[in-house]
Amino acid sequence: QNQGPLKGKNILVTAGPTRESIDPVRYFSNYSSGKMGYAIAQALRDKGADVTLISGPAQLTPPDDVEVVYIESTLEMYEEVMKRYPKADAVVKSAAVSDYRPKHTSQHKVKKSEGPVTIEMVRNPDILKELGEKKEQQILIGFAAETRDVADYAKKKLENKNLDMIVANNVLEADAGFQSDTNRVTFFYRHGKTESFELLSKNVVANHLADALISLFEEREQH
Ligand code: PMT
Repeated sequence: QNQGPLKGKNILVTAGPTRESIDPVRYFSNYSSGKMGYAIAQALRDKGADVTLISGPAQLTPPDDVEVVYIESTLEMYEEVMKRYPKADAVVKSAAVSDYRPKHTSQHKVKKSEGPVTIEMVRNPDILKELGEKKEQQILIGFAAETRDVADYAKKKLENKNLDMIVANNVLEADAGFQSDTNRVTFFYRHGKTESFELLSKNVVANHLADALISLFEEREQH
């Protein structure tokens, strides 16, 4: 049995990229390595939580004593998250989720032909938005990967997706965001509080996030 301030808390963490299949050999994806999300899973486990890590394809060894569920597409992530949501005490959505997928996935390798090709894309569900709409006891922490006007976009996502906190990062910075071992983040809370951090290792960012979640649980329990 885990010990620590998050003992008994059931927490879902999503990490890594999604892959949206074009045909058996090609997909659309993004640069997420999973490092941020895996570090969060580990930090929450270290503070006593029961962690389920729902991970897109990543070249990382998951932390011990964490239940890991591998998915590829956004639709698969959607299913695995929704299934576990009613019993979750918190969800941390650090995965980089594709907003679109090809309308059709070809069963066979698409052959080249003369001239340009058009692939029609359709919208994927916004998993986090739907979690926000169905929220009961759960604390929801989202991420915002932005390339400009970071604070403004992050605050809009915090509100639109009914989150308790959002972690904003600028993914154009070389030492932050995708793939790096470090990140530079700002936490925006629902009630207007903001915390900005300097450049830190993703493990340290994950520890700050775990502490933030502990305070959010404490606040919740006081009301
Ligand atoms: O994996 P690393 O290489 O360590 O990189 C870390 C990271 C840059 C991926 C991470 O820090 C990060 O910013 N993750 C969120 C990426 C993202 O999808 O951001 P977004 O601003 O597009 O989405 C906002 C939030 O909604 C996210 O919590 C996302 O998980 C969620 N979302 C988005 C779209 C969608 N269809 N469903 C969702 O649930």
